[in-house]
Amino acid sequence: MEENIKEVLANFESEIKEATDLDKIEKLRVNYLGKKGEITTLKKSIAKLSKEEKPQAGKLINEASKKIEKALEEKNEEVKANLLKKKVEAEKIDVTAHFDKAHSGHLAVINQTMEELESIFQNMGFDVVEGPEVDTVKYVFDDLNSPKDHPARSTSDTFYINDEILLRPHTSSMQIRVMKECKLPIKMVSAGRVFRNDEVDATHSPMFHQLECLVVDEKVSMANLKATLETFIKEMFGDDMKLRYRPHHFPFTEPSLEVDVTCPICKGKGCPSCGNTGWSMELLGGGMVHPKVLENCGIDSEKYTGFAFGLGVDRIAMVKYGLDDIRLLYDNDKRFIEQF
Ligand code: PHE
Repeated sequence: MEENIKEVLANFESEIKEATDLDKIEKLRVNYLGKKGEITTLKKSIAKLSKEEKPQAGKLINEASKKIEKALEEKNEEVKANLLKKKVEAEKIDVTAHFDKAHSGHLAVINQTMEELESIFQNMGFDVVEGPEVDTVKYVFDDLNSPKDHPARSTSDTFYINDEILLRPHTSSMQIRVMKECKLPIKMVSAGRVFRNDEVDATHSPMFHQLECLVVDEKVSMANLKATLETFIKEMFGDDMKLRYRPHHFPFTEPSLEVDVTCPICKGKGCPSCGNTGWSMELLGGGMVHPKVLENCGIDSEKYTGFAFGLGVDRIAMVKYGLDDIRLLYDNDKRFIEQF
């Protein structure tokens, strides 16, 4: 009898090692502990034993039965745990996994710069106005007090559609539109494309961008112009940026000036890119609105004064990002564009 029990146990142990899924474990349970199972058969055979042998055999069979039951239970747990582990593993999400996103573009540097400029002026209380790129000779030159023989009027400088219509060579025509159409006081900026018959080189392009600024009110002075320029330049470039004013001439402002800023490459020390002057190329032209221009727009020049300036947005971008060639802004080279 003892031998039989040992044999059953040995068989069970080798079979349970092979049982790797819940079905096989259940089969084993039936084969050993079920109604016709090995252990049950052993229990039945006790009846055939002598009185003396019975208690010992019963004890051994019970022990074996418990052992088998425990082993089945443990194996069951083990297989269930493994299944769960495999399931978790299969459902794991790798958050670092790479997938091909659709490529999304962004605004060009020049448009970013224009938006930045507009928002600086908006914060200073200016209205942002949009105007046409194709404009009239009247608004672009005549009403701006430009003499008939002014060189900018020639076809070698400006692109004409016909005798009266042209591609605007500056945004100053927006001064006229706004003064004619809007109520006083005026505080506006207007940015956009302008066109000139220029050869392409490192600092020139036949299409570039300007931002026009105009303020008209009672008692507007040169001090207001300087304060506005200084506030905006510091806002755009930081406190270290210095401004230099040079006298100049424009038909539509009197007095007129041009403004340079600290060279962004050498920070004013002098370097080859600024010709050792420490100042970058002119950023803007401006001045006090000429009384004749005010009168052309029906504004009483005895009562009202104004200042205006037009700045080169491309040059602002070049100073801001330390670019030495305007063509970078228009070449559409991805290696350049992607840096912004
Ligand atoms: N329109 C001038 C230019 O293109 C700049 C300017 C604007 C000057 C307003 C004075 C006032 O150079």
